[in-house]
Amino acid sequence: MVGTQWGDEGKGKIVDLLAASADWVARYSGGANAGHSVQAGSQHFALHLIPTGILSPRTRCLIGNGVVVDLPKLFEELGKLASAGIDATGRLFVSGSAHLVLPHHKLLEAHAEAHQSGADKIGTTMRGIGPAYADKIARRGVRAADVIDEGRLRRRVEQVIGQWGGLCPDVLRAHDCSIDSVMEEIRPYRERLVPMLVDASVTLTGAMRRGESILFEGAQGTMLDIDFGTYPFVTSSNTTTGGVLTGLGVPPTALHDVIGVVKAYTTRVGNGPFPTEQKTGEGKLLQERGNEFGTTTGRSRRCGWLDLVQLRYAVRVNGITHIAVTKLDVLDLFAEIPICLGYEIDGETVNDVPMDTSRLGEVVPVYKIMPGWNQPTAGVTEYDDLPPAAREYLEFVCDALGVKLLMVSTGPDRAETVWCDPRLHTTRV
Ligand code: GDP
Ligand code: IMO
Ligand code: MG
Repeated sequence: MVGTQWGDEGKGKIVDLLAASADWVARYSGGANAGHSVQAGSQHFALHLIPTGILSPRTRCLIGNGVVVDLPKLFEELGKLASAGIDATGRLFVSGSAHLVLPHHKLLEAHAEAHQSGADKIGTTMRGIGPAYADKIARRGVRAADVIDEGRLRRRVEQVIGQWGGLCPDVLRAHDCSIDSVMEEIRPYRERLVPMLVDASVTLTGAMRRGESILFEGAQGTMLDIDFGTYPFVTSSNTTTGGVLTGLGVPPTALHDVIGVVKAYTTRVGNGPFPTEQKTGEGKLLQERGNEFGTTTGRSRRCGWLDLVQLRYAVRVNGITHIAVTKLDVLDLFAEIPICLGYEIDGETVNDVPMDTSRLGEVVPVYKIMPGWNQPTAGVTEYDDLPPAAREYLEFVCDALGVKLLMVSTGPDRAETVWCDPRLHTTRV
């Protein structure tokens, strides 16, 4: 399951529903920059690093090697789950090859963001994600399995802090970030982390051999992918389905249905091109009705109309077979709903994302105006109970993308869902 837009499509709600019938839920990329919300009756959960599947009592969860792990955040999240009555004991596993997010990553990120001005700022979540992946690729990172042996851990920390001490001495010194302080941050978590460590590839391929089902939980969205997104206004990992293979060590044949989560309109947090953005009027209305404020940082999300050019790109890059459309209810009050079918650029109309994605900042969207339904869909659970114009909107999108409609979400709660493809709607016995 992947995000098809710029993140915050409502993946948390969809994973939660699918996880009830999955043996495993595995995160393959990103880190605590994700914010996946689930509304279960009066209980509200926001998962950042732990797979959302943890809310299903019999589902086992795995944090893959493609994820960057912030240990204080991981154990804080486990603590919050425990206080909410969710027992994760023996159900959460972490790949020994997952890299750790360390204190210097957040300092370097704050430094980098402070030295960019205005529209050049990426507007990250400040969770240390970019610098953690940078250390991984530069081959100086510290991995989860390094915590097993304190001597080895110290040598790895010496390596990375030593290098940064040379590259950026002022930043580390200004914040007293030393080898000892980094060791101190990791120390309280070592004992609790070690029993969770596994080889993700061995664990998941073993599960596959036993016929167990695995749901791969994507974080962020296609347009935030380091390779396929709107670079440099992206996150630092492969958020798309390609990331599943390298982020967990499972073979390509492990992937069957690919579910893309599509918000019924588009949002984006942080800077970067967004062709269908509506900066005033209807954009503000979408923001208010959709409560479009970040789960991780509380920042307001930029809002605009659905973009079929961008979504077709997401279908192609991820191999999406089904979509789950979320937040349909947010569109209930609009008399007309524009939907972007193409872009005008250099005097031509095109219907694909430009090869140079930075040019998305220059395109002029070409819209088709769809009739609104002007009546509440909030809480509807049967497809036939949706207003005809809402069904027309959904069917138009599926036809344009060549995908099947798996489900429609008509409110934040688990119950506010229309299941369209019964094949994937199974409850475990
Ligand atoms: P994610 O990052 O993709 O998991 O999405 P977030 O959880 O960050 O943001 C989605 C927000 O929309 C959350 O607050 C959800 O509770 C909420 N949400 C999900 N589905 C629906 C829906 O169908 N209707 C409404 N009104 N809200 C929804
Ligand atoms: P979920 O999983 C929306 C955005 C940030 C910023 C860019 C880089 O909840 O959909 P980073 O901290 O990753 O280096 O920031 O990516 N971003 C997200 N936007 N939802 C997310 O996750 C995001 N994770 C990162 O706002 O523009
Ligand atoms: Mg989110």
